[in-house]
Amino acid sequence: MHPLQCALQVQRSLGWGPLASVSWLSLRMCRAHSSLSSTMYPSPERQEDGARKDFSSRLAAGPTFQHFLKSASAPQEKLSSEVEDPPPYLTLDELLGRQRKVYLETYGCQMNVNDTEIAWSILQKSGYLRTSNLQEADVILLVTCSIREKAEQTIWNRLHQLKALKTRRPRSRVPLKIGILGCMAERLKEEILNREKTVDILAGPDAYRDLPRLLAVAESGQQAANVLLSLDETYADVMPVQTSPSATSAFVSIMRGCDNMCSYCIVPFTRGRERSRPIASILEEVKKLSEQVLQLIHERDNICKQIHLPAQSGSSRVLEAMWRGYSREAYVELVHHIRESIPGVSLSSDFIAGFCGETEEDHVQTVSLLREVQYNMGFLFAYSMRQKTRAYHRLKDDVPEEVKLRRLEELITVFREEATKANQTSVGCTQLVLVEGLSKRSATDLCGRNDGNLKVIFPDAEMEDVNNPGLRVRAQPGDYVLVKITSASSQTLRGHVLCRTTLRDSSAYC
Ligand code: 5AD
Repeated sequence: MHPLQCALQVQRSLGWGPLASVSWLSLRMCRAHSSLSSTMYPSPERQEDGARKDFSSRLAAGPTFQHFLKSASAPQEKLSSEVEDPPPYLTLDELLGRQRKVYLETYGCQMNVNDTEIAWSILQKSGYLRTSNLQEADVILLVTCSIREKAEQTIWNRLHQLKALKTRRPRSRVPLKIGILGCMAERLKEEILNREKTVDILAGPDAYRDLPRLLAVAESGQQAANVLLSLDETYADVMPVQTSPSATSAFVSIMRGCDNMCSYCIVPFTRGRERSRPIASILEEVKKLSEQVLQLIHERDNICKQIHLPAQSGSSRVLEAMWRGYSREAYVELVHHIRESIPGVSLSSDFIAGFCGETEEDHVQTVSLLREVQYNMGFLFAYSMRQKTRAYHRLKDDVPEEVKLRRLEELITVFREEATKANQTSVGCTQLVLVEGLSKRSATDLCGRNDGNLKVIFPDAEMEDVNNPGLRVRAQPGDYVLVKITSASSQTLRGHVLCRTTLRDSSAYC
């Protein structure tokens, strides 16, 4: 029987809480091997309890949308005050990284990429620094994979190379520490410590919170290991740090472990029981990523400052019937937050007129949302019932067709009035425009987009190139040009072209 299955049975028969029983059993299981796992074991009950309490209290505080965003954008780095109390045999100072440089190397699956970020987040909070230069490292951690034999062989080979690094290290530097993290640590446990004396620490996939302690113990020259598996460790409160600043994607991990027990697969044994991260913590991380997106849109000139925020309705009652998952108030708060984060942002939206059960009062609410937000672009539709949808099965398409069309017309009129007002604030300004090509309506005009993704039409005329004074050029698709805006409607801006420029040369026009 797998030790964790065994743990579950004990828990059921004794009626213990899952945390206590599993930690107890795993502890015994690991102590059986403790001649090599030389350190005292941490108290995962306390750590997990702390994490859970922290979460429950945050949940209980019932964050509003605003609260949510603020907490997500708050800087998270705090040093020693956040570090766990030291065990009796270590001082707080020994638990801290003391600016030691950590080099992390990731092998295997996307979970390992995420685990690397979690491990780094924990070490960063303990005062470690990160390096991408192996020669500079004081600590080398390999986040390992056990899925196939070859994956493990790669790590053994790598350890062999790293051994050389350790022996060559000058005495003037602090001794190099090498750690094996993740699945291989879990699967082979002391076999690694036995076989490769060069390894100083072992940490299984559920033991990353213990890394500062393991490293502190290793500092004193002992090998240190924690390969306890947990039933509920999800690192919910540890915000992963993006490993590479140039990364083009970020992963949000929503669960750990696996219960499938496919007959060929090691994963249930190395990563333990399947457990899901609390939804609130997933949301928090996603919000944090969204915050980063807003910040990037704000900072980078090569990203246009336009966001599409489909509202569908301005009535909370209708939004609920639509199952949209937000109220009018939450939506408006989001709009304010985006406007604060990206001054001058251009907003567009989708609206449906005449959804099932929409009353005149609901419709008035949508009109008022259009006025309140003053979108720059809008896509407005009369509701048409679609087969198979929830509304088709559960709701009544009870707004008469002529009423839908009348409401749609009203929405379009209001949207146009507001967009015209919003767009007219650009008249008199000089805007940077990315040229797309000839205007559809006139062969003598060109068409492009401003930073708010709004169409700008201007006559195809000769102009100067700011980087080649005296040279007269015509704008080509892909060029950036400066256009003086002379008029605006709800859909487009018009103006005349001043010169060809580049993104870099053209900052700060109104
Ligand atoms: N009837 C009317 N409009 C719809 N949309 C989606 N489904 C329907 C429907 N059944 C609109 C929504 C959505 C956009 C792409 O199309 O506004 O955001």
